[in-house]
Amino acid sequence: RRKIIIDTDPGQDDAAAIMLAFGSPAELDLLGITTVAGNVPLKLTARNARILCELCGRPDVKVFAGADAPLQRPLVTAEHVHGKTGLDGPELDEPTMPLQEQHAVDFLVDTLRSEPAGTVTLCALGPLTNVALALQKAPEIAGRVAEIVMMGGGFFEGGNITPAAEFNIYVDPEAADIVFKSGIPIVMMPLDVTHKVLTLRTRVEKLKAIGSRPAKALVAMLEFFERFDVEKYGSDGGPLHDPTVIAYLLRPELFGGRDCNVEIETASPLTAGMTVVDWWQVTGRQHNARVMRDIDADGFFELLTERVARL
Ligand code: BDR
Ligand code: CA
Repeated sequence: RRKIIIDTDPGQDDAAAIMLAFGSPAELDLLGITTVAGNVPLKLTARNARILCELCGRPDVKVFAGADAPLQRPLVTAEHVHGKTGLDGPELDEPTMPLQEQHAVDFLVDTLRSEPAGTVTLCALGPLTNVALALQKAPEIAGRVAEIVMMGGGFFEGGNITPAAEFNIYVDPEAADIVFKSGIPIVMMPLDVTHKVLTLRTRVEKLKAIGSRPAKALVAMLEFFERFDVEKYGSDGGPLHDPTVIAYLLRPELFGGRDCNVEIETASPLTAGMTVVDWWQVTGRQHNARVMRDIDADGFFELLTERVARL
């Protein structure tokens, strides 16, 4: 069983990722969920993570609140995609389980110090602020993280919040820069992958057929979430970004990519948050990430459906 910490800013697609992890207890040992400001402000992401735990019958999971703003910039949020609460769509009960008192960054540092080196994987589903703060606070933890599997960036696909930048990296480019320079093994799920896993009707119908409370709530979330892409771009569904991270832990063979050098643009106002991926290996710069580009989309949705059905 692989020990993981999920760092997240839920978000309907974060919710799908968390459900995929909850549905996979044989493979994944979830040590805790840390929340960060991103899609919506921190108060809401910390609330939403607890709502999801309770919805899935997991009030035992520890949820920690972390950074309420990026390292150096004002927070940019994405209510235009996720709605006012971040989990718009279904009717959801306010959480009753407590938020942990410890700060998410301290939990990350303590856990990485106390667990055997190389055994904890960080799953990053939002801006990388918490992870960067942990690395600033305790640089030695870099050598103790097994790997960071993260959703963020885009290269041939471009950006989704500016022409150059994907949202998670755009919100906190300085944090992403710290993480990509940390020497920790990184697996990156960019828009080039996530735009290939769309919530097509046939796929959502299979989730709907499960009929459980968590499955119904997820379907209502996805139906809300996808309207942005369907209405704006005439797309056949919404891109299910964040669950690709968890799917990679469960079925890496669903993905195709290559080791690359990735640098983060932090200076230019025009391209801030751009992930400059040396896909064609033209620079000779050191590889610092395994960058994914391909995914077996049907295999991914089968996995998601199978695991959500276990909740
Ligand atoms: C990423 O940004 C958020 O809106 C999603 O939850 C995902 O993590 C996609 O760009
Ligand atoms: Ca997210």
